Amino acid sequence: MPLVNTKEMFRKAYEGGYAVGAFNVNNMEIIQGITEAAKELSAPVILQVSAGARKYANHTYLTKLVEAAVLETDLPIALHLDHGDSFELCKSCIDGGFTSVMIDGSHYDYEDNIALTKKVVDYAHERGVTVEGELGRLAGIEDAVNVSDADASYTDPAQVQDFVERTGVDSLAIAIGTSHGAYKFKPGQKPQLRFDILEEVSRRLPNFPIVLHGASSVVPEFVEIINQYGGQMPDAIGIPEEMLRQAATMAVCKINIDSDLRLAMTAAVRKHLAENPSHFDPRQYLKPAREAIKGMVSHKIVDVLGCNGKI
Ligand code: G3H
Ligand code: 13P
Ligand code: ZN
Repeated sequence: MPLVNTKEMFRKAYEGGYAVGAFNVNNMEIIQGITEAAKELSAPVILQVSAGARKYANHTYLTKLVEAAVLETDLPIALHLDHGDSFELCKSCIDGGFTSVMIDGSHYDYEDNIALTKKVVDYAHERGVTVEGELGRLAGIEDAVNVSDADASYTDPAQVQDFVERTGVDSLAIAIGTSHGAYKFKPGQKPQLRFDILEEVSRRLPNFPIVLHGASSVVPEFVEIINQYGGQMPDAIGIPEEMLRQAATMAVCKINIDSDLRLAMTAAVRKHLAENPSHFDPRQYLKPAREAIKGMVSHKIVDVLGCNGKI
């Protein structure tokens, strides 16, 4: 099966009351860990590449690695640009074989966001590529952009119908209290998501796929391992998994997870090297790192997303 766009994936996810995992990829071990888990669990999967990942690993390397995963697994896999910030970047990914792109105009004012998003949609749809837009602003760190809590804002449900109709986007990322990175809430702060906003958005956009960014749970087990083996992440806090499970049964069809993969991989490498101080062959520590990614993704597919067996 060739790479797919997100259209059919999201239609099935919406109807089936589950979400598809969108996992960020930066190298071979991450791609292998994710797709091996998806294969074993017969789960559709979105592999997403940020501008930073593309800079780090190079467009051609990443697309060829993803093509290899498609050949190895025969799964429905979408290759998606995460947080595209310009028409040129989206165009380059579309021309270079991506099947889905996000144009993140959330930092522009409303009309400029619409104009930019529509330009990308027009280009993408002519080529069979699906487009995710964003309304509302998440707090947290994405590559070089650091959005402070004060600059973050929830999605205004009154805008979503107009935005979707005027841009033609295939899915919409909304801000309901998730945020990027490993420090989503302050110590002592009660994690909360605005399910009332999600409900109002889906009432105004019937049968329309919603996307949640910043949806890592910052799984405490891995934070503990990192801290135990020399790391310093004492205040890392994520979104409770039961909240994400609930969102997945609602209109949310795509859940973005990056930080949890980073934590799983880093915990495995730290633990391995601490326990085997003489090891210096990268395969010795990248193998458990890949296994940790696979374990994390299997857990998300079964216990959070509910997309196992949905190919
Ligand atoms: O939302 C951002 C993703 O976690 C990607 O992060 O821009 O550091 O690759 P990055
Ligand atoms: P996390 O930092 O919560 O994993 O979010 C990732 C993300 O939203 C990628 O776009
Ligand atoms: Zn994001």
